[in-house]
Amino acid sequence: MPNPAGAMKRQLHLNLFIHSRGHHEASWRHPASSPLALTDIRYYQDLACRAETALFDSIFLADQLALGEEVAQAARTWLEPVTVLAAVAVATSRIGLIATASTTYTEPFNLARQFASLDHISNGRVGWNIVTSWLATAAGNFGGAGQVSHADRYARAEEFMAVVKALWDSWADDAVIDDRIGGRYARPDRIRPIKHKGEYYQVAGPLNLPRCPQGRPVLVQAGSSDTGRRFAARHAEAVFTAHMEKATAQDFYADLKALAATEGRSPDQMLILPGLSPMIASTEGEARRLARELNELSDPEVGRKRLTGRFGGHDFSHLPLDRPLVPEDFPKPDSVEAARSRTEVILSLIRREKPTLRQLLANLAGARGHFTVSGTPEQIAYLIEDWFTDGVADGFNIMPPLLPTMLDVFSTEVIPLLQRRGLFRTAYTGKTLREHYDLAWPGSASKKACLKIEQSSH
Ligand SMILES: Cc1cc2nc3c(=O)[nH]c(=O)nc-3n(C[C@H](O)[C@H](O)[C@H](O)COP(=O)(O)O)c2cc1C
Repeated sequence: MPNPAGAMKRQLHLNLFIHSRGHHEASWRHPASSPLALTDIRYYQDLACRAETALFDSIFLADQLALGEEVAQAARTWLEPVTVLAAVAVATSRIGLIATASTTYTEPFNLARQFASLDHISNGRVGWNIVTSWLATAAGNFGGAGQVSHADRYARAEEFMAVVKALWDSWADDAVIDDRIGGRYARPDRIRPIKHKGEYYQVAGPLNLPRCPQGRPVLVQAGSSDTGRRFAARHAEAVFTAHMEKATAQDFYADLKALAATEGRSPDQMLILPGLSPMIASTEGEARRLARELNELSDPEVGRKRLTGRFGGHDFSHLPLDRPLVPEDFPKPDSVEAARSRTEVILSLIRREKPTLRQLLANLAGARGHFTVSGTPEQIAYLIEDWFTDGVADGFNIMPPLLPTMLDVFSTEVIPLLQRRGLFRTAYTGKTLREHYDLAWPGSASKKACLKIEQSSH
């Protein structure tokens, strides 16, 4: 809705994070979650279509490269995200599609090629969630030499980024002529090798397919440790982050926007999207009752195993469920080689609320350390508007506790309130994810000049 000056109000961005049958740990066994198998592609296509009807900017799929130890009592299986997005791309036409892939356990050439292919398949709707893979057990599936340290994973990721960006830029926008009459397919002078020789990778290039519709896929990142933030400030165009309090989310927002500026980037070219897991009902009491119902279906032993995973394999089996926890029950976050920033979120909760292990696990069962809230549509819309206008978020990574039920309630009850306040689109105006997120063509150059300028700097 136009403001009095006639200009468009700053617009909120919404991403749907698809995970299991919902983000609550017990969602997979709740009667209100989808009856489809988690290996049934129709489940993902259907959710993406629902999100597209509701005008979400994008959907997102996370990924781990090892089976969780709690598989006996928790639905811990999913399809490989890049493959899923190819199938979702052909079932949708406007919504952005973000898949997770690891810099630690893939080669840059493979990854650059897969994401460029997805961007072509989807006509410019793809984003890559760059992860370094925190789960210690993944190392056993890739050579078994033990987990690469937190610092080394990020060092490797830094070089990985230089390689994939160069590969995506290795074809100029106008390299393909496809002239059947003249018999010329491409202009070789508009395709160049990258000749990368670094500490971790040696890649000759060029990529073996034309430049993708968005120039490069949208780069998304979700590491929030100090190293993770500096990495995001250099590369990320959208940032997912987990906070259990508004205050820490606000500090994170200010810190990351300032870091982006010190990297010479415009802070508005890096969207910050904290996770939000809303349980919604027509009264707050009913929403709380639903959340309690799901908590009662959770198994504390599943939570205990997940905690062990977060803390890089630390054994919590000796901790009683009903004694208040102290920080000394946990390893120090800076000694954790796994999901370091999430361990900080957990320890700050322990200092603040001194929960028992049972209470902590119930709290994490909701959305693994993201912000959970139970309320009416008005309360959820108010919270979103408050964070959006108070320097906490550019939008949200929506994590429905139950899928598709709570996605549908969010779409039909909360989104119209946001639209009425002029905060959210009432129709798609762009076609690509870059356009939905209001992001510029990648790199410092304009679209056509891109290759020329980058070539001269080599
Ligand atoms: C919303 C969100 C989604 C994430 N998805 C993944 C994922 O799919 N795979 C993964 O290995 N890590 C994932 N992470 C973890 C981060 O990428 C990062 O590895 C982790 O936070 C540890 O890095 P840090 O210590 O710098 O935060 C996710 C984090 C957030 C907040």
